[in-house]
Amino acid sequence: MSSHPHVEIPQDPGRLPMTLPRLAEKRRLGDPIVMVTAYDYPSARAAEAAGVDLVLVGDSAATTVLGYNATTPVRLEDMLVLAAAARRGLKTPLLIGDLPFGSYEVSDQQAIATAVRMVQEAGCDAVKLEGGGPAPASRARAIVGAGIPVMGHVGLTPQTSTALGGWKAQGRTAGAAAQIAAQAAALQEAGCFAVVFEAIPAAVTEELMGRMEIPVIGIGAGPATDGQVLVFHDLLGIREGLGPRFVKRYADIQAEMNAGVAAYAEDVRARRYPGPEHTYKVDPAELEELRALLTA
Ligand code: KIV
Repeated sequence: MSSHPHVEIPQDPGRLPMTLPRLAEKRRLGDPIVMVTAYDYPSARAAEAAGVDLVLVGDSAATTVLGYNATTPVRLEDMLVLAAAARRGLKTPLLIGDLPFGSYEVSDQQAIATAVRMVQEAGCDAVKLEGGGPAPASRARAIVGAGIPVMGHVGLTPQTSTALGGWKAQGRTAGAAAQIAAQAAALQEAGCFAVVFEAIPAAVTEELMGRMEIPVIGIGAGPATDGQVLVFHDLLGIREGLGPRFVKRYADIQAEMNAGVAAYAEDVRARRYPGPEHTYKVDPAELEELRALLTA
């Protein structure tokens, strides 16, 4: 038997579910928007308990939970399983499912079909896609047209990091920054409800913010954005190494996990576990009867 499922985590009973109008209002009021990734039930429960606004089942799952060294190998089927698990852990944040590489590039029809599966099979409220060129903007417009809210993503877009020259900051020349500005504007114009700015110099972000009318969520894009997103495993230290420069680490859970499993292994080897408090009792009379049965 495994540990007890569905541990109740306290949450503010008065907190209202996040909606697109509430998100737009937060932006208007200058109230910072909090977004975090989650990939399963416990990470979603942590996001819920913290009262975050937006939860992204990111295709970063490829690296954080599936052990790949890039985001491109994660499949739609993987994302559906992870997003459905996160859904079961959430009540109030808006749940956004990342469209994985290969699941929306072919055509607007493919993009709509994938987005529908994220909503119908995993319970996502919205989807996110990467890139702001003519094709991603067209996919975003098509999905929005089908009634599914879309979050855009510009700057460092890991699915196309090879074409971008690697996992590095984007928009460091005037031309490259102007291209990011055009992409963000195209996504806004396509009807995206928000856009992620990833790995963009803070001063460039500041220049672009005045052109944006939808919430901008930054990751490695400085403090000027309407909100921030971090990858769950990065901020909690569930990884080897420190991760990108923009990550602030709030815990060292990988070290805790390593120490916990090592202590358990030591206890088993030293026969310290299980102790009497971890065992089930049986009526001595039943035991007597069993002995008789076994020797009969
Ligand atoms: O996949 C992901 O986790 C993301 C965030 C970094 C925005 O796209």
